Order: sequence, then structure tokens, then C-alpha cells
Amino acid sequence: MNRRIVVVGSLNADLTIYCERLPLPGETVHGNGFAVNPGGKSANQAVAASKLGGTVSLIGAVGNDPNGDMLLASTQGAGVDVSRVRRSADVATGVAVIAVDANGENNIIISAGANGTLAPADVSADAFDDAAVLCLCLEVSLETVEAAAKTAHDAGATVLLNLSPYAEIPQSLATLSDVLLVNAHEASMFLGDAEMPHPGAHASAWESVRSQFAERGLQRVLVTLGSHGSVVLDSLAASGEQISRIAPTKVNAVDTTGAGDAFTGAVAARLAAGVTLAEAAAFASVAAALATTKKGTQAAYPGAEEVLDHLRIS
Ligand code: RIB
Ligand code: NA
Repeated sequence: MNRRIVVVGSLNADLTIYCERLPLPGETVHGNGFAVNPGGKSANQAVAASKLGGTVSLIGAVGNDPNGDMLLASTQGAGVDVSRVRRSADVATGVAVIAVDANGENNIIISAGANGTLAPADVSADAFDDAAVLCLCLEVSLETVEAAAKTAHDAGATVLLNLSPYAEIPQSLATLSDVLLVNAHEASMFLGDAEMPHPGAHASAWESVRSQFAERGLQRVLVTLGSHGSVVLDSLAASGEQISRIAPTKVNAVDTTGAGDAFTGAVAARLAAGVTLAEAAAFASVAAALATTKKGTQAAYPGAEEVLDHLRIS
């Protein structure tokens, strides 16, 4: 059975300032700490999946600069195969400017840099030879995302699309996505400003959302709900199991940056290991929660043992 996870997308240097509260438009606030860390949604997903025991390859682009060195060292150090991360001679590595407040909430601005050069030509078919799962986000061009989804789909891999940062996607890409990962806001926008149930609502309240996704050609959707856990909408599961709620994991969040990427990477790792979508989501929910208890993204991600310990205690 194929086990490889291929992640296609972004790598960023995260320039993070920690502060009491996030500045309002036009306002300046004092920070209380600054760090440069490896980030980028796809690099984060790759590291999360690898730390959880997955066999992971990353396809992306960085510049020929110290930030590029940092990102290659971090991903490779976590066991990710980076032989298909291209170094661009004339475009700088992508950057994210991040503010994190005392509650661990953040806002982020990204500047694509080399990520913007990632093209369909970078995703050749041989990259998916033994792929079980392809992980995608929307920090590289839609054209590249769609080319990767198509190639992976043809190779028989499960295509996992994290619709973040939110953008409208062509129906062809939606149809190619075997599993869609969204937060409640992204889910609502994808469904044309659809009303979402209260995040704490019982599974049955999600029936209409499940059928709206199915009408848009999506059979399997994971909706993350922050401190309310997540909900699995699986139109392919046996009736009675089509909607399941995953309880939140209570932790003291210090920095929520990249929690969604930890969730996505963990789902990829567990799907590649052959478990059900609901089981993968339960595992990912713990991995993402643990990731918020430390500053930064990749360095904060847990290993499989840590997640399993947590699942045993709770
Ligand atoms: O999801 C978190 C990530 O978003 C950060 O690492 C930053 O680089 C942006 O891509
Ligand atoms: Na963190």
C-alpha cells in the first residue's frame, strides 16, 4: 500500500511579534518579543505530517537567501524529503509578517516571493508515483494547485485541500478534492455566504451544510471550529455516521499560528496510514491543540507519541 504524503505549496519565513493585543487599523502598539521562524502553510503541513510518522515529500520554491536556508534546514531536519524544493535565483523566499496577542490569537500578512513562481511544470507526474495523499493549500497559484490535484488524482492519491487563505476555486478543483478542510468562515464563503450552525451545535444541525457541500461536488469535508472542536461531514460514510462531532481538546493556547496546518498535516498522516476520516480528525484535533501550547509553528508540532499519550489520558 502506498504511504507517501506529497505536499505541494508554500514555504515562508515567519517574522512574528508578540504583543498584548493586536493593533487596530492606524494604531501602533508595543510588542514584547520578536522571532524569525520557519513557516508557510505547506512547509508546516509537511513538518506536522512527518513528525507524526508520515513519509513526506515537499514540492515548493524558496529563494537563494538565508531564509531559504532556514526553511530547508527546518523541513529537512523534521525528516521531509525536500529534493523537489526549487531554489529561485532571482526571487526572495516568501515572508509572513505575523502579530500574536496575549491570548495566542494572530493576524498574518504574506508576501509570496518565490512561492509565486511555483508553476504546473514543478509538479511532474513522477512525484506522485507512490503517493497515498496530496496536501494542498492556497498560498501558491490556483493553476499550480489544480495541476497538482489533477496529477495526484490520476495517480490514485487522495487529494486533501485546505481552503486557506480563502479564495474562490473553480468547480474543477472542488471536484478533484477528495477531502476539503475548512474553518467555519471558509465553509460559509465557499457555500456562498451560507449560514453556519452555532459552533457548539449537535451533529444533526450540520445536515444542511453537509448536503450543500455534496451539491457542490464535495463528499468529504472537515470543518474546524477552534475551541469547539471540529465536525466531519462524510457523505460516503454509512448512514448514521455521515456527520460526527470531534470534541475540542482543552489546552492553554500560547500561539495558535499554524494550528490549522498541524491539523491538515495530521489528517494527511493518518489517512496515509489507512484510518477512517473521523479517526484521522480526532487524532488531528489533538495534534493541532498541542501545537498551540508553544510559540511558533513547526518547532511546536508534536510527535505521534505525545498525541497518543494525550488520547489515552482523555
Ligand atoms: O498557517 C500559518 C502560516 O500561514 C504561517 O506559518 C505563515 O507563514 C502563513 O503562511
Ligand atoms: Na504554536
